[in-house]
Amino acid sequence: MTALSTPALSNLQINADRLWSTILETAQFGGTPKGGVKRLTLSEEDRQVRDWFRAACEAAGCTVSVDALGNMFALRPGRDASKAPLGIGSHLDTQPTGGKFDGILGTLAALEVVRALNDAGIETDTPLCVVNWTNEEGSRFAPAMMGSAGHVADLPLAEILARTDAEGVSVGEALDAIGYRGEVPLGTQKFSGFLELHIEQGPILEAENLTIGVVEHGQGIIWYNGRITGFESHAGSTPMHLRKDALATLSEIVLAVEKLAVDLGPNAVGTVADITIARQSRNVIPGEITFATEFRTPDAGILEALDKGLQAAVVRIAQKRKVSVQLDTIWRKEPTHFDPKVTGAVAAAAQKLGLSHRPMVSGAGHDSFHLATIVPTGMIFVPCKDGVSHNELESATKDDCAAGANVLLHAVLALAGDAAKA
Ligand code: GLV
Ligand code: MN
Ligand code: MN
Repeated sequence: MTALSTPALSNLQINADRLWSTILETAQFGGTPKGGVKRLTLSEEDRQVRDWFRAACEAAGCTVSVDALGNMFALRPGRDASKAPLGIGSHLDTQPTGGKFDGILGTLAALEVVRALNDAGIETDTPLCVVNWTNEEGSRFAPAMMGSAGHVADLPLAEILARTDAEGVSVGEALDAIGYRGEVPLGTQKFSGFLELHIEQGPILEAENLTIGVVEHGQGIIWYNGRITGFESHAGSTPMHLRKDALATLSEIVLAVEKLAVDLGPNAVGTVADITIARQSRNVIPGEITFATEFRTPDAGILEALDKGLQAAVVRIAQKRKVSVQLDTIWRKEPTHFDPKVTGAVAAAAQKLGLSHRPMVSGAGHDSFHLATIVPTGMIFVPCKDGVSHNELESATKDDCAAGANVLLHAVLALAGDAAKA
């Protein structure tokens, strides 16, 4: 590979048209009539985009390996093979009514960085590794960020493989069904650092007319599974004071979650969703309900207070309504603090490219939260329309996607070594 002069390096740009066309091309795998994407993790559509990704990475000169959870690693050698690669990437799975940018932008921008370096004949000092993490979304199988959790040993492999979807299919069975249970043991792929580009999934950058978010912190998250067991009985003949109504109980829990998040705000959010009433009939008092709930906040103390508050509220509501409520914590992730060296490289790249930027906290969960527990890690945000995400209407402009990918490219050059020294 040829050495470039420093001015040529500092003007280096990704190919915005190529990045945009890969985003549109991969949006066909699971594309929905409303312009979104339904590509649940380890589904047939996920297999299709994985096959596309593998072929594209190989065509860009990378060697692709797959680990025991289907995490995909595309290695681009550097000058110094003794160095662990700098990881760049995100995820290609989506929500059931997802968009074409959440996770996808970060994965395809990482591929675009490799393609742009190839075009310019640049070999970095540190090798690069483009990554597609399995099941970031946590929609089909809980919890979210599952592949990266396995990679950093936050959850044991056997426990992850045994987790099931709503149809009772396990992660292990789903990996086998699409041929992506890889040979490589979990955690084998080492990194010297990790960097992820993502849409913001919130309204701040757009509202402030800024292009780049330098993500310094990530929210802590707690996910619970709940089950309320009351008593099914006749809706006409059971007096109100004798009822054990599971749905009325859930209503109180929903309001308690909302009140806790508001009272402990402004930096706290709480949600109840994914509710199933067993054996429904309009004239039977609901006797059994399952539900999911979560809290998020960047403050570890507030996360603990939200947890304690919910546990106490559930006991109080269950006693009052004479029902039993089981609340299982299925996932807890403490707040993340990204590495100043990596966030500094992101801010410096945005500055060098003349892009407006500000420090940010990530509201959404990301695989980078896990990577931050083992190596210096950072994230780059770009705006999305109206802050909408986890929705088929999710949208980001070609220019903002390109700006984010250029920041990724220049942060990579800063962190992985300057080719001008080649
Ligand atoms: C994943 O997308 C999450 O933030 O829940
Ligand atoms: Mn995502
Ligand atoms: Mn998501």
